[in-house]
Amino acid sequence: MWQKGARCAAQFGRRFAAPAAGLSAVSAGTWFALKQQTLACEDKSSQSDEAANAMMACAALAISYKNAQEDLVKAKQELKRVQDKYDYFWPRKIMMLFGAPGAGKGTQGPNITNTLGLPQLSTGDMLRDAVSAGTPIGIRAKEAMSTGALVTDEIVIGIIGDRIKETDCGAGFILDGFPRTIAQAEALDALLLTTGERVNLILAFGVAEDVLEERVCGRWMHKGSGRSFHVKFAPPKSMKLDDNGKPLASTMLDDQTGEPLYQRADDTREALVKRLDQYHEQTIPLLEHYRPKGIVKEIDGGAPIKQVTTAVMNAMTKHNMKH
Ligand code: AP5
Repeated sequence: MWQKGARCAAQFGRRFAAPAAGLSAVSAGTWFALKQQTLACEDKSSQSDEAANAMMACAALAISYKNAQEDLVKAKQELKRVQDKYDYFWPRKIMMLFGAPGAGKGTQGPNITNTLGLPQLSTGDMLRDAVSAGTPIGIRAKEAMSTGALVTDEIVIGIIGDRIKETDCGAGFILDGFPRTIAQAEALDALLLTTGERVNLILAFGVAEDVLEERVCGRWMHKGSGRSFHVKFAPPKSMKLDDNGKPLASTMLDDQTGEPLYQRADDTREALVKRLDQYHEQTIPLLEHYRPKGIVKEIDGGAPIKQVTTAVMNAMTKHNMKH
């Protein structure tokens, strides 16, 4: 090993990069460790030995080279994992979650985000943030939202138009609650066309309307993340009931952060009637706008949550997408 190193140093003088590649990384590593121990016992004069210093540098480079090779292998494995994932699903997804209030858009969106890493863009969440921050948009949106009416097209188109330009949307994004009118859909189509793109998947959650009231009136939300819970179907771990079987508000905490959950101002029986009217009149026609493009996948949103998640994952595979 020493002779090999000496030959290496002699041949290339003080240029050690090439010898490093020629030296077995394993033998260099062993030699490096031994040599360091030896040097600790030797006096300083031996450190000035040029050949020894050359070998030290050579060995250090060989070790760096070996480490770099290992990093490269890991990077290639990670690249393959990501490529396999996108090959199995679909590259650059511009998806839309479609369904009535309480259909499960906000419940299923995070599963897609966790699987594909795409951000879920909920206009409802963005507007609620604007309302609680008291921004000019929030002030304009507040009254419409609390009664279950739609906010003006101009406001939501502006919000989404800005949001999809952000860098986290580079691999695609999930639209939740947008578009909700034909005018919004046309504005979205025009916006995407500027980059030669279009919506490529719509997951349409079908749910019988008589279950929606129970869903929205039993919902509790986490403000920071938009995560939704339900007193019956998806209770937070901390939930405790009072003597009447109603949840104690102080025990309604987010599973992940432990922060308090809240109930939305529009999650009332009265507001739901108006929200459903809007949905029928303004939003359902969007399905006919998009259906001829062959991108609408019907999901049975009335099934238990886990079953719906499985259906969502299956609908996203390349095998099930005919483009
Ligand atoms: P938005 O926030 O978008 O509300 P929404 O469309 O009415 O939808 P929800 O959030 O109520 O339903 P979801 O499908 O997400 O249900 P979730 O998964 O939470 O909009 C609110 C308002 O903002 C609008 O009314 C409007 O004013 C304004 N707005 C927003 N976008 C706009 C736009 N583009 N244009 C104009 N105005 C706009 O589920 C509900 C509950 O059910 C949860 O508690 C959940 O745990 C439970 N659940 C879910 N799935 C299941 C299941 N399979 N089985 C049992 N329980 C389930």
